[in-house]
Amino acid sequence: MTYPIYLIGYMGAGKTTAGRLLADKLGWHFVDLDQAFEQIHGYTPAEYIREFGIEAFRRKEKYVLEDLAELPIEKVIYATGGGYPCWEDNMECLKELGTSIYLRWRPEHLAKRLMLTDLSERPVLQGKTEEELLACILPQFEAREPFYAQADIIVDVPLGELSEANDEQIAEHLCQLIKSKTK
Ligand code: S3P
Repeated sequence: MTYPIYLIGYMGAGKTTAGRLLADKLGWHFVDLDQAFEQIHGYTPAEYIREFGIEAFRRKEKYVLEDLAELPIEKVIYATGGGYPCWEDNMECLKELGTSIYLRWRPEHLAKRLMLTDLSERPVLQGKTEEELLACILPQFEAREPFYAQADIIVDVPLGELSEANDEQIAEHLCQLIKSKTK
């Protein structure tokens, strides 16, 4: 398994939450690319998209990830933005730079998880019921799946029942997986 590790998947997959827990367990660095974007550009991804549009955001997002990849640190867990792998040659880039891991959820579970988060940072989803949210994410989820599915490793989640413990379970599972492959 090559470093660094890129967690990919749809919004609500746990890339940030499970990724941070995972990095702690491994004693590795953790970088959330949405937060890195905000630090570099002074806008959250949602603000940037509202202000300058999705194309401009995707271009900048691509450079943020590629620039960070030049840093001389290898043991890093990156949480990518949900749309990153589905833009231009980004998925190929990820696979060249390190190991990509897709946190694969069913869309119904994603809708449930997203309902528990602050949707104000996700303007398209804001104010929706769970049913509306599912209807809204389904077409995009299906369009993105073929990109996510190119990941080096796919982990089907949740690993047990759907619960608040899922992010911790994902982190523990990935920790064991990474340890076994990087001995
Ligand atoms: C996006 C997901 C967000 C963020 C931006 C666009 C998307 O990241 O990059 O708002 O297109 O799915 P998360 O997946 O971390 O929420």
